[in-house]
Amino acid sequence: MAPFVTVNCAASADGKIALSNRRKVNLSNTLDLERLHILRAENDAILVGIETVLQDDPSLTIRNNSSSDNNLIRIVLDTKFRTPLNARVMNEESKTVIATGNNGFTSPKNNVEIISCGSNEVDLHLLMKKLSDMGVENLLVEGGAKVIWSFFREGLVDKFILFVSSKIIGGATTPTIAGGRGFDKESSLIQLKMEKVEEIGDGALITYTKK
Ligand SMILES: NC(=O)c1ccc[n+]([C@@H]2O[C@H](COP(=O)([O-])OP(=O)(O)OC[C@H]3O[C@@H](n4cnc5c(N)ncnc54)[C@H](OP(=O)(O)O)[C@@H]3O)[C@@H](O)[C@H]2O)c1
Repeated sequence: MAPFVTVNCAASADGKIALSNRRKVNLSNTLDLERLHILRAENDAILVGIETVLQDDPSLTIRNNSSSDNNLIRIVLDTKFRTPLNARVMNEESKTVIATGNNGFTSPKNNVEIISCGSNEVDLHLLMKKLSDMGVENLLVEGGAKVIWSFFREGLVDKFILFVSSKIIGGATTPTIAGGRGFDKESSLIQLKMEKVEEIGDGALITYTKK
């Protein structure tokens, strides 16, 4: 069975997820960060796109977790295998899967597995099948904009958790929650079901599921 996919994202009040120069910005407050690490611990794997790795250099581990056995599998969508060897996501703290195109890349490290999944970009349905075969039942997608768009476009998002901070970033080209091409027809829009709205400090946490 395909993994249950949760997308988690922290956005500004105007829907942006990074600074106008695409640099990382901390939009979550302390309470939301605590929630995020609990959410990570509830999943088997965590996934981001290569641009997030290059821009933010996240380690994608569970904070205060000293045992590497308890960390999740880290997955990077990276067609051309551009993930630097010294990126934090490649460190020994956990296993890392690089989902590439069909280019015959080989793994440079023991904790890194390469899986080929398509040509132009990673075929998410093929990836879901391969992750399922690896025993991944719950997958957490943390961005960035293009990756979140792709998961929505392919109808693969089971749950969408959005933290909306009380900050404004602005900028016409600043990354927003879902990037990519977007829909140009009202009939194509994805209708979600809003399950819950919670106040978390100075922000709002909205949980959506599939309609
Ligand atoms: N606030 C938050 O919660 C949050 C979280 C994460 C990131 N961010 C921000 O998001 C920004 C990065 O987002 P981004 O949209 O530029 O890049 P991204 O979504 O991180 O990565 C996109 C790249 O992944 C690769 N990819 C391979 N297969 C794909 C597929 N099926 N669908 C989508 N991408 C695929 C492509 O590169 P190749 O063609 O080379 O494979 C693509 O260009 C950064 O500014 C970061 O700070 C914010």
